[in-house]
Amino acid sequence: MELMEKIWEMARNDNRKIVLPEGNEERTLKAAEKIVANSLAKVILVENEESIKTKAQELGVNLSGIEIIDPDKSDKLEKYVNAFYELRKKKGMTLEKADKIVRDPLYFSTMMVKMEDAEGMVSGAIHTTGDLLRPGLQIIKTAPGTSVVSSVFIMMVPDCEYGEKGMLLFSDCAVNPNPSSEQLASIAITTAETAKWLCNLEPKVAMLSFSTMGSADHELVDKVRKGTELAKQMRPDLLIDGELQLDASIVQKVADQKAPNSEVAGKANILIFPDLQAGNIGYKLVQRFAKAEAVGPICQGFAKPINDLSRGCSVDDIVNVVAVTAVQAQNIQK
Ligand code: ACO
Repeated sequence: MELMEKIWEMARNDNRKIVLPEGNEERTLKAAEKIVANSLAKVILVENEESIKTKAQELGVNLSGIEIIDPDKSDKLEKYVNAFYELRKKKGMTLEKADKIVRDPLYFSTMMVKMEDAEGMVSGAIHTTGDLLRPGLQIIKTAPGTSVVSSVFIMMVPDCEYGEKGMLLFSDCAVNPNPSSEQLASIAITTAETAKWLCNLEPKVAMLSFSTMGSADHELVDKVRKGTELAKQMRPDLLIDGELQLDASIVQKVADQKAPNSEVAGKANILIFPDLQAGNIGYKLVQRFAKAEAVGPICQGFAKPINDLSRGCSVDDIVNVVAVTAVQAQNIQK
């Protein structure tokens, strides 16, 4: 069974409540109808109620089974404003400012997840990655034992022998511009966990660099080498190795030559990029040149699931990201 079919099945078996803050946006409305029709999740649309209903009517979208919440009219508004103020007062937040901020559907929806009135949030059809991540980072924060929020792409490369028959996880390609060694270690561990619960993979993690096991000396290589050591110390049960060049990570013949003693080299199914320039360019190279399907970015490391969409997303992309978010909600540590 294809990965996305499995994710749909998991989402259907245990329905979760997912909030969509871009409630009056065309693709979001169409996706909401499809999610409910396929029983993938319980859907809450957040925005001005009038605008949601008018747009749905224009599009012929059936809103039955979909909850609509208008922040300005919500009886939870005051509770959320007070809770947001308490969370952010040390950072200079005032009650007056909090009242304005929480009325924004993105902040309101993030507060719904925080206050357990929803179990996950998906946004980004009209907002940038930063717009979505900031409320998440300020309000939801990181999961216990995780120091950094990052993202993962599941890359599915057709006719490919690398990774697990062409399936590999890439991280971080969307969030952290320049992760420290400590952050790289955390990203590697979180991605290994995501590979287990979402893809049912036995993780083999390569910490990527332009050097393999000391072949080059540079401060950029040192960062990856230290990150590898830290990750190994933190999770000796996981197969994590580095620093490795891309070819040594996935091609056994190159690995035999350059890293013969590594249990990961030549067999990696998870690639951890040293920074966001490499990661973002790397996944797009594989997506375009190898015609790979790129599922993501899936955010990982948040205490509760929040996911981003590309502004060029299709209705089906939104449906799939909601299904992934619902499965994340099932697997979140309380
Ligand atoms: N993990 C955990 N906490 C974090 C992280 C992180 N990765 N990044 C920031 N924080 C915390 C900060 O410590 C801060 O906490 P505090 O306010 O409680 O002290 C809070 O989150 C907000 O931090 P800011 O400094 O306001 O946010 P920042 O300006 O650092 O922005 C962001 C964070 C939005 C993630 C930024 O790093 C960013 O824009 N990243 C790149 C996103 C992007 O453009 N990606 C490429 C496009 S996506 C694609 O192509 C698929």
